[in-house]
Amino acid sequence: MPHKVQGVVARAVGEPVTLETIIVPDPGPGEALVKVQACGVCHTDLHYREGGINDEFPFLLGHEAAGVVEAVGGDVTDVAPGDYVILNWRAVCGNCRACNRGDAQYCFNTHNATQKMTLEDGTELSPALGIGAFAEKTLVAAGQCTKVDPTASPAAAGLLGCGVMAGIGAAINTGEVGRGDSVAVIGCGGVGNAAVCGSELAGAATIIAVDVDDQKLAWAKEFGATHTINATTEDVVERIRELTGGNGADVVIEAVGLPATYEQAFYARDLAGTVVLVGVPTPDMKIELPLIDVFGRGGSLKSSWYGDCLPSRDFPMLIDLYLQGRLNLDGFVSETIGLGDVEEAFHKMERGEVLRSVVEIV
Ligand SMILES: NC(=O)c1ccc[n+]([C@@H]2O[C@H](COP(=O)([O-])OP(=O)(O)OC[C@H]3O[C@@H](n4cnc5c(N)ncnc54)[C@H](O)[C@@H]3O)[C@@H](O)[C@H]2O)c1
Ligand SMILES: [Zn+2]
Ligand SMILES: [Zn+2]
Repeated sequence: MPHKVQGVVARAVGEPVTLETIIVPDPGPGEALVKVQACGVCHTDLHYREGGINDEFPFLLGHEAAGVVEAVGGDVTDVAPGDYVILNWRAVCGNCRACNRGDAQYCFNTHNATQKMTLEDGTELSPALGIGAFAEKTLVAAGQCTKVDPTASPAAAGLLGCGVMAGIGAAINTGEVGRGDSVAVIGCGGVGNAAVCGSELAGAATIIAVDVDDQKLAWAKEFGATHTINATTEDVVERIRELTGGNGADVVIEAVGLPATYEQAFYARDLAGTVVLVGVPTPDMKIELPLIDVFGRGGSLKSSWYGDCLPSRDFPMLIDLYLQGRLNLDGFVSETIGLGDVEEAFHKMERGEVLRSVVEIV
């Protein structure tokens, strides 16, 4: 029997999202039905609503979620009803060319549910990042469910499902921040501040947080930033160089997604340093750099997809650190809201008032 539940749908570019009745099928082979307990509001949901990802409207938004498995398809053995899980958008296939060479974090053929969730009139929904968790229940591929310690609160745990993992992983996995390194993070929203946390966990000695908003910088200090720069009043590249003995940072993480901030990241790193782009640009954006500087400054220019994480490796480990009090996931939860409040949460995000609004479903 299909399930009739409430879900948050974006029907057209720029139109406010609406709470709608959606139809969620029972899980078929390889699928799991999950009762969502909490789902964070990520900037990527807003990108979908604005048509910045693709035009496959209507979208069922939400993708940073934790919940409990309610039912699984007959052949599913990795998760079972009652399991407490974080949903991921990297259910690795195990046999694409990336998986075959041992780089499953780049898997080019990740799994999603095969059956479609729909509106009541049968219109198929496109679930954000193959998840769609601003809903009381959602249907995913079983591999999208990662079991973690059930004592972690859903509001905090769910954040590892996207933005916080993207930021921590940008520092630890992609940037390979190490003990004693200097790191600068440009853009300290949920993702950038998670990169600050990741840098601290990895043992960075200098962590410079850059934003245009003093509140974000104050939060960055709480997450472990040693220095802050307000980009509206200071020269970002010059200040980062000053704070790193005139050299630039070993690793600079761009968590805004703009050409101007990417260029700052490029010039604010030390020779042979690393730039990590985790902010998502829109298709029209371009960057122009003197090729001689690309060569002459050496090092590596990397992009970080989902923090280059492997959910089965990284989520349980980070939840354990959270439960030990060594990773402040609660600090990212600025407010908890209801399913009907997502549109307002987008506005709060645009005004810079929150790191994460988290929808709780009781
Ligand atoms: N690569 C990935 O896998 C991945 C995953 C999740 C999110 N993202 C992307 O990461 C980016 C950040 O996401 P978020 O949820 O933290 O968004 P957010 O809106 O909460 O944060 C963006 C931050 O950048 C700051 N900012 C804006 N302009 C700036 C400038 N010129 N200089 C310095 N700071 C500036 C804002 O004040 C804000 O604090 C988005 O582009 C999002 O789509 C990427
Ligand atoms: Zn693969
Ligand atoms: Zn996200």
